[in-house]
Amino acid sequence: MSGHSTYQPKNRIVRWVEERLPIFSLMEGQFISFPTPKNLNYWWTFGMILSVMLVIQLVTGIVLVMHFTPHEDLAFASIEHIMRNVNYGWLIRYMHANGGAFFFLAVYIHIFRGLYYGSYKSPREILWILGVIIYLLMMATGFMGYVLPWGQMSFWAATVITNLFSAIPFVGEAVVTWLWGGFAVDNPTLQRFFSLHYLLPFAIAAVVALHVWALHVVGQNNPSGIEPKSTKDTVPFTPYATIKDSFVTVVFLLAYLWFVFYMPNYMGHADNYIPADPLKTPAHIVPEWYYLPFYAILRAIPDKLGGVVAMFAAIIVLFFLPWLDTSKVRSATYRPLFRLFFWILVAVCILLGWLGAKPAEGIYVTLARIGTAYYFAHFLIILPLLGLFEKPKPLPASISDAVLAKHGGAGAATEAVAAAEKRG
Ligand code: HEM
Repeated sequence: MSGHSTYQPKNRIVRWVEERLPIFSLMEGQFISFPTPKNLNYWWTFGMILSVMLVIQLVTGIVLVMHFTPHEDLAFASIEHIMRNVNYGWLIRYMHANGGAFFFLAVYIHIFRGLYYGSYKSPREILWILGVIIYLLMMATGFMGYVLPWGQMSFWAATVITNLFSAIPFVGEAVVTWLWGGFAVDNPTLQRFFSLHYLLPFAIAAVVALHVWALHVVGQNNPSGIEPKSTKDTVPFTPYATIKDSFVTVVFLLAYLWFVFYMPNYMGHADNYIPADPLKTPAHIVPEWYYLPFYAILRAIPDKLGGVVAMFAAIIVLFFLPWLDTSKVRSATYRPLFRLFFWILVAVCILLGWLGAKPAEGIYVTLARIGTAYYFAHFLIILPLLGLFEKPKPLPASISDAVLAKHGGAGAATEAVAAAEKRG
């Protein structure tokens, strides 16, 4: 797909560099002339949004670290210092905290886009698997970042989540002690979480580079789910995709900045403005919204080890998705039954998210059990069987045909061209 760029630099300095390190032709081939399916819709802009959010998180994080002190006696106070004394410290901190939430919002849209259009199917399996690795790294990074302000929620979230590992048979307790760096969540825990929270985003950036590389080898999928067959099916990445991506990125950033400026604590928890107190457990320990569906799955299973296994399995199952979905057809556009089940899955994930924030009792637990069972059934039973029994709609011959069919068919397009020519 990516092929070799035929780019010939005119500028002498650029040519001099190019002959020694062909970086300009690489960029030209990947981000300017790169053949992009001409029917990509706005759901294909989230990769760019995610890249921008990653940079925002890295830059704001690095500035925060200049003023933050990772010590149990000073962490909370250093955050207050950032908020009150550091020039624009409040802005940097709110950008970083809300940036995390918006990063997850974008990644969920990006993942569900992939699920809907079958972007995980051959030949994009490795691209998808790299995505799942990024998602896991994001979960770990977000969790450790939340611990750093050392407020009540930080401390108790760290306690609850690290304690999960005690469910591992035989070695559980030893693993938890090892994770803590002591016999309780304490200063060594805060320091190692800080170290890893700084490191992991760079690991994410490295995996993103592989992700985009893999994408550029196999090329982008598209709403029709059929591969481009000729140059009529594609347009150059620049200006078409770059302009579209930039437009949606600006809209997304406006929504994000609305939160940063007008409701910066909306997604946070008030208890995290109380310094960590190991002797006082908060009434409800609730994770950030983007972990809630998994929290619901964890608590749906009556057995602790079972809950932990189910929670991790809910993500691990995604690695096997390219092989669990047995259908030859990629896009939900041509798979009516799959589309129905896709939307049920979306509803179930939202339901689980809502349940994750409710107390683990009564009807909430019952619903969480049903939701959990459905989540796994979707991937392990429904998808494998659907591929065998579903009758997909006929696929268009090419991307161009799919585009024309959407806008009144090839006949309508020919008539429109003829009418335009007549008008002169
Ligand atoms: C930091 C996080 C991520 C970044 C920066 C990123 C970046 C990108 C970019 C730039 C694209 C091409 C444009 C687009 O399709 O929107 C893309 C495509 C894709 N990404 Fe990601 N991605 C991230 C996370 C993920 C995750 C978590 C998954 C799945 C679990 C994933 C799966 C995919 C797939 C399957 C495609 C191909 C889509 C297609 O062509 O239909 N990505 N990604």
